[in-house]
Amino acid sequence: MLSKVRMHENTFAKMTLVVKVLATLIVAILALSYSGSLFAADTFKGQKIYTTNCAVCHGQNGQARLPGAPSFNRGESILKPDFTLLAAIRAGKNAMPAFQGILSDRDIMDVIAYVRTLN
Ligand code: HEC
Repeated sequence: MLSKVRMHENTFAKMTLVVKVLATLIVAILALSYSGSLFAADTFKGQKIYTTNCAVCHGQNGQARLPGAPSFNRGESILKPDFTLLAAIRAGKNAMPAFQGILSDRDIMDVIAYVRTLN
């Protein structure tokens, strides 16, 4: 009787360990896939998007071609958080057209990551 109870305790302890290990693994896998899909910006894709949509005003190498447009090669206007820039690119700003509906937020985050490599 006593040994049976002990065995149960032991099994329970092992099971909670297995559950803990599994839970940790699941959390780790979720965290990896989450960060992978949301936060790891693709600067190669960003470069393509930049060439097609942004270089006409901001210059292929980040030297602005349109007066009033920031030169990213000199670090202009990029000392702001990603989400501030995302909002400006989405909505447009003065002479800059809005890119909402043209580029996805993911595309815009990729292009912001690329722009940050130009200076
Ligand atoms: C038609 C010209 C034009 C195009 C195309 C253009 N921009 Fe701009 N952009 C501007 C101008 C002009 C400003 C300055 C707006 C202001 O502050 O008055 C600007 C500002 C910005 C800023 C600074 C925003 C801020 O909050 O200060 C960023 C970042 C930016 N552009 C990124 C981009 C990206 C990325 C693209 C391509 C997806 C792009 N722009 C396409 C003209 C353009």
